[in-house]
Amino acid sequence: MKYLLGIDLGTSGTKTVIFTQDGKPVASATEEYPLHQPQNGWAEQHPEDWWKAAQNTVSRVLEASDIDPGDIAGIGISGQMHGLVMLDKDGNVLRPAILWCDGRTIEECNEITEIIGKKRLIEISANPALPGFTAGKILWVRKHEPEIWAKCAHIMLPKDYVRFKLTGTYATEVSDASGTNLLDVANRCWSDEILEKLNIDKSILPKVYESADVVGYVTYEAAKATGLKAGTLVVGGAGDNAAAAVGTGVVKEGNAFISIGTSGVIFAHSNKVSIDPEGRVHTFCAAVPNGWTVMSCTLAAGLSLKWFRDNFCDAEIQKAKEQNVDPYYLMDKEAEKVPIGANRLIYLPYLMGERSPILDSNSRGVFFGLSAIHGKYDMLRAVMEGVVYSQRHCLDVLREMNVYPEDIIATGGGGSSPLWRQMIADNFGFPVKTSTNKEGPVLGAALLAGVGAGLYKSVEEACETAIRTNPPQQPIAENSKKYDKVYAIYKGLYGQLKQSFSELAELDK
Ligand code: XUL
Repeated sequence: MKYLLGIDLGTSGTKTVIFTQDGKPVASATEEYPLHQPQNGWAEQHPEDWWKAAQNTVSRVLEASDIDPGDIAGIGISGQMHGLVMLDKDGNVLRPAILWCDGRTIEECNEITEIIGKKRLIEISANPALPGFTAGKILWVRKHEPEIWAKCAHIMLPKDYVRFKLTGTYATEVSDASGTNLLDVANRCWSDEILEKLNIDKSILPKVYESADVVGYVTYEAAKATGLKAGTLVVGGAGDNAAAAVGTGVVKEGNAFISIGTSGVIFAHSNKVSIDPEGRVHTFCAAVPNGWTVMSCTLAAGLSLKWFRDNFCDAEIQKAKEQNVDPYYLMDKEAEKVPIGANRLIYLPYLMGERSPILDSNSRGVFFGLSAIHGKYDMLRAVMEGVVYSQRHCLDVLREMNVYPEDIIATGGGGSSPLWRQMIADNFGFPVKTSTNKEGPVLGAALLAGVGAGLYKSVEEACETAIRTNPPQQPIAENSKKYDKVYAIYKGLYGQLKQSFSELAELDK
């Protein structure tokens, strides 16, 4: 019997799972790490924390499963996208990684747009220059930390750093590289034109592979640190969303998923490169050869609920400990008792600024309509609804691009909440399914490893073998009518606040 190992480097923690060849989890381990916010709107993590979490979780799953490490046919890694990891010539980390939800590079993005031209940049990289993406972060370090830039010999994305520690190879793959603003997305290779114009030496970038390509083998040193067998193959893997697509079987035209993790994503697979000329949603390479995706990304979906839990739900956290359940389960039960519309309270989930579809790093979270009658649970319900409205706002853009999913698979931590799923079905107006396997990105990463190891002929075949869905939750027409009215107000709020957000961002500068 052969097994597959998936490692998913998330923003709140790393999850590692051993799967059987047909996608059944055998052992799973998670380790959390902190997110540092040195300034309002900035977000950083230490790559060393990721590597420590990968080592510990890999050792733990090997121990718990009691399988022979030699029976692991391959390893796949998925991870948070866009983060900038900088290494010196000896492979040492030069500074904390600047993450996908960091909004400090507005000026650098304007510079990139000016140098390359908005139209040309979108033609090549399929996306406008966005503060979350990697290129702006490179320019920011070059400008603000020249002494670090001078020592930088290698640039990597977060999951590629973990693979570098496992295998010693400097590599990336098409799905994650699509989020750098440096990739020629249609041709699936670095863009010489963009690199030249931005004066970035190609030699500091890793080689680009397809997601299921074998890119390296576990070194003796990494084997000692993790318990893996030296020589085990490691594939390219994928950015977390492209990996979640594989892990939910979204690998064919017409398939779509919604993920409520830290970020909120709607992801649709496509056989061609379709681009929103306004850049409100992203076009990336899929983890499937000759496949692309159209994808929206909001920055504080699950993060909004986590923020609410950590700041206002001590009582639920305590009670959850006593009852040995998840605090989110108890929060769901309370939110369920509040009527649709949260008693006329609306939440805008822009805690980290916002990407899709408003592209405004200066925007911030809002409770609109707060009254003395409102209590904590009205606010909780408003937060959950606001996150769903922000996804609906993105779906409106996909529809403008003629992307019309007929149903959708819900995944990510938020996807496991029946209340949230019902809100999505009622707002989107089509059924919401879940996969029988809850693992999403980490399963996708493992299946890619299975393709690299030759256990499956293709990514599509891997998905057919491993993925099944549960019966869907259907939209309830009466609920949809109520949500429609609130959503109409939600949709108008950002435009009315835009100017005030940028004035707020100028305060105390
Ligand atoms: C996608 C994005 C996020 C991160 C973190 O563009 O920024 O989904 O990958 O999950």
